[in-house]
Amino acid sequence: MPVITNIEDLKRIYQRRVPRMFYDYAESGSWTEQTFRDNCSDFDLIRLRQRVAVDMSGRSTASQMIGQDVAMPVALAPVGLTGMQHADGEIKAAKAAEAFGVPFTLSTMSINSIEDVAEATSKPFWFQLYTMKDEDYVSRLIQRAKDAKCSALVITLDLQILGQRHKDLKNGLSAPPKLTPRTIANLATKWRWGIGMLGAKRRHFGNIVGHVKGVSDTSQLNAWTTEQFDPTLDWGKIEKLMDQWGGKVIFKGIMDAEDAKMAAKLGADAIVVSNHGGRQLDGALSTIRMLPAIMDAVGGQTEVFLDSGIRSGQDVLKALALGAQGTMIGRAFVYGLGAQGQQGVSTALEVIQKELDTTMALCGERKVTALGRHNLLVPEDFGGRWQD
Ligand SMILES: Cc1cc2nc3c(=O)[nH]c(=O)nc-3n(C[C@H](O)[C@H](O)[C@H](O)COP(=O)(O)O)c2cc1C
Repeated sequence: MPVITNIEDLKRIYQRRVPRMFYDYAESGSWTEQTFRDNCSDFDLIRLRQRVAVDMSGRSTASQMIGQDVAMPVALAPVGLTGMQHADGEIKAAKAAEAFGVPFTLSTMSINSIEDVAEATSKPFWFQLYTMKDEDYVSRLIQRAKDAKCSALVITLDLQILGQRHKDLKNGLSAPPKLTPRTIANLATKWRWGIGMLGAKRRHFGNIVGHVKGVSDTSQLNAWTTEQFDPTLDWGKIEKLMDQWGGKVIFKGIMDAEDAKMAAKLGADAIVVSNHGGRQLDGALSTIRMLPAIMDAVGGQTEVFLDSGIRSGQDVLKALALGAQGTMIGRAFVYGLGAQGQQGVSTALEVIQKELDTTMALCGERKVTALGRHNLLVPEDFGGRWQD
């Protein structure tokens, strides 16, 4: 067994084990990938303030996200096609999250369905909603999430239309993969993945196939998703979705102070400062750079979470110290899943927690909830001097 000491180790194994098409799907951003790269590199610009001679006993990474106890404030972000990264990927990731004590978010575009995940787990998970033109379908989806006792609806606001990722078009991304000479040649080297997939519960989009009239196979489905994302989504429609759901709501994809204020005004329980991991608007600032302005804008009226670019517990600590109550990880858990299934997701979470705990200690803090701006050294021009 390889010795895993950081997220990068998992990524290397992931790249070897998972078909190229799905590795590329996860490991890319839109267009030039500037935002995708900045998300990670901007974390590195922030440095930490080391403190000494502080009693380090009895440390804890435990906290709360939207009133739920969490072992550390790191939720698994919604990731489409997770069940193509590893057989029954959503079930495996949800189980790892449940055992660890952090929230799991199921994507609308998952392979395992809401019901599959509910059946395999015993604690409530979060459900992420993409809004579609087919309102009946969206209503039924919300009802299915209610029936499954999901404890929050995560409404993703930054994907009314899809940002272009060159590799997905070139690879002909589909679930399951279409068999062409190129994909067959690549799949032949991924036998472990293939054997797993033969026994998988599903290989199609579980929340969609069989639940939408006229959709029975993936080729139709691809056309359907492109056509179906709702370009008219606005705050009025969002309010209606909130009424329909009636429970806790998290708005994901907020990158602007004005939007953050609006989200708080509508009564969001939390917002996620997110640029979709650099997959939507290429040229947007990194989330860690945007965070301080958004914290100022909401002024404690709603919880603020951050995702995009987190690859370590130190990144989590930096987001928390700049004011976020919580974080989400996308690729960091996908690497673990693709590398080693459920165990790999657990390892990713353990790595992040250990890094968070050690960094906290060396910064002179015993509780994640005590982290603050005083723990960081932030470049003077970190926010940048950008003119609107
Ligand atoms: C492969 C992949 C698929 C994703 N699918 C979804 C999705 O279905 N719904 C959603 O709201 N966000 C989706 N996201 C965005 C993630 O929820 C999250 O915002 C992003 O991964 C955070 O950046 P990170 O991967 O650098 O941690 C996806 C991200 C990736 C990498």
